[in-house]
Amino acid sequence: MLVFNNKVDLNLCLQSKSAPNFSIGFVPTMGALHDGHLSLLKESINNNKLTVISIFVNPTQFNNAEDLEKYPRTLDNDIEKIKTVSEAIIVYAPTVEDIYEGNTTSQHYNFDGLEHQMEGKFRPGHFDGVGTVVKRLFEIVKPNNAYFGEKDFQQLQIIKKLVEKEKLPVTIIGCPIHRDSSGLAMSSRNQRLTDEEKRQATIIYRVLNQAKVLFGTKSAKEVHNYVAKSFAKIPNFDLEYFEIADEKNLLTCVRKSKNKKYRAFIAVFVNKIRLIDTISLN
Ligand code: PAF
Repeated sequence: MLVFNNKVDLNLCLQSKSAPNFSIGFVPTMGALHDGHLSLLKESINNNKLTVISIFVNPTQFNNAEDLEKYPRTLDNDIEKIKTVSEAIIVYAPTVEDIYEGNTTSQHYNFDGLEHQMEGKFRPGHFDGVGTVVKRLFEIVKPNNAYFGEKDFQQLQIIKKLVEKEKLPVTIIGCPIHRDSSGLAMSSRNQRLTDEEKRQATIIYRVLNQAKVLFGTKSAKEVHNYVAKSFAKIPNFDLEYFEIADEKNLLTCVRKSKNKKYRAFIAVFVNKIRLIDTISLN
């Protein structure tokens, strides 16, 4: 299996493989891979001649130094997991220097307001960091198709907007959320939860499902109150936000409209570990 930690060698390899009608599928990640990531790799393999995965914990998208420091880094283990999907996948695991070339800062983006809601509101600068690194990775890998999970639905919409605004020659494909058998959405951060915390965290998906049922007959405000009450009862849980928003522009739903598609978004701290999840309400 080919693993590169610098863009020059990666590009030489990709150039040597290029051929007419050749298509590169790309799965950008921050590592600590789980089955959700592997499903993105499978989707890419089924639709492209070559698949590249990047593993890079991007410092500019963290607004909390402790979160960056504690983010799991498990490269050897990740490579073993990738091998179970295919030995032909190319791994790009760059250094910070290879990506940022001595200037580890974000570019500032205008994503037409998508960046001001939810994750953008609670993690200032986060989407500038995501936009900067994703654009850089696209320039290096030059993929035809790139795959992102719907768990980070706001990120997915923002990356589509980045591609549209910057006219980047890549198709963005959103893939369904992967959940474990308890309903907990797969996330690299789950690795930091104890078994007991994992068990408790299953409430997140149960509450989202109940919110979906309630949204059939109740207002967004009433659903919001139900969710807030559900988490207030659990001592080591801290609800950061629950939002019902229009899927297209991510604006908060104040009054329901029949023609719009809505989605619920949630961020919860389980002790100090921040988990997010989302569910379509239509
Ligand atoms: O979703 C992630 O893992 C990251 O935000 C991404 C897209 C790889 C950018 O660092």
